[in-house]
Amino acid sequence: MVNLNVKFCGVDFKNPLVLASGILGVTGDSLRYVVQCGAGGVTSKSVWLKRHKGHPNPVIIANEYYMLNAVGLPDAGIEKAKDELGKFLKEGSAPLIASIVAGKQSDFGDVAEEVSKINPHILEINISCPNVDDEFGKPFACSTIDAAKVVEEVKKRTKLPISVKLSPNVSNIAEIAKAVESAGADAITAINTVGPGMEIDIDMRTPVLANRVGGLSGPAIKPLAIKAVFDIYKAVKIPIIGTGGVLTGRDAIAMMMAGATLVGIGTAVYYRGAEVFGLAVKEMKEWCKNEGVKNIEEIIGAVHL
Ligand SMILES: Cc1cc2nc3c(=O)[nH]c(=O)nc-3n(C[C@H](O)[C@H](O)[C@H](O)COP(=O)(O)O)c2cc1C
Repeated sequence: MVNLNVKFCGVDFKNPLVLASGILGVTGDSLRYVVQCGAGGVTSKSVWLKRHKGHPNPVIIANEYYMLNAVGLPDAGIEKAKDELGKFLKEGSAPLIASIVAGKQSDFGDVAEEVSKINPHILEINISCPNVDDEFGKPFACSTIDAAKVVEEVKKRTKLPISVKLSPNVSNIAEIAKAVESAGADAITAINTVGPGMEIDIDMRTPVLANRVGGLSGPAIKPLAIKAVFDIYKAVKIPIIGTGGVLTGRDAIAMMMAGATLVGIGTAVYYRGAEVFGLAVKEMKEWCKNEGVKNIEEIIGAVHL
């Protein structure tokens, strides 16, 4: 018997695999489906205070190596999200990490307070989307000062544990992680999409995405995500949700060895379907059995020893 249970910010997860934000996490029904497929927990898509328009089509391209997306965080706003997430929470099938986003520091506080009313297990603060600029023209996650200010604002407005989602598009992610830990963050989610990047249709002589650029995700970014988690684990004491390019149970184990307690799975749903969760759980169990690992928590940070 292999025990895949993990505790994260005081919350019990039946296994470490959680749906990453923005992928299928739009309605209560889609979240429930992901749990039925084997996810240990789910992250909702990032919620804005008010209705938010995304980017024009086409917004996604993908091949066997990566996905490039410029969906631009479209959202129907806080009231609709509270309805959908509330439905999921009522069923109590798995922990919910509710992701929030804003363009202004003060709006982060407002949306955190509103979402906290439905009592999700954890709040994830998305300060790192490469397609949405903050009030100063770059994501909050690119500056230790801006990132810490958002955390302080959110901490004043909620009692829930908060995980801060960091961007890989910085020169020193560990420095940002330390700044948000000092500002009161309870956990870190790393990483958001990489880039932005651009793909060109040479016959049309134009960028493929209408937005021209988009965030890179999927298998190609896994080494960047693992290195980011490795660096963050060395720099802070708070736990990490390691996200980026995880496709298999073996990938998830590598992410945990780098220092992740939970592992986010996003783009892999495109490659393996929502069934990826059940399949990866099976793959993790097989590896643990062969290696004589009885408790998955034993491997967290294993490469640092
Ligand atoms: C289509 C799409 C939409 C996304 N939307 C969000 C979002 O709403 N909020 C967020 O924090 N991250 C969002 N992300 C980033 C993912 O949560 C994740 O951090 C990133 O894709 C890397 O993980 P992956 O390679 O497993 O997809 C999105 C990614 C994709 C591909």
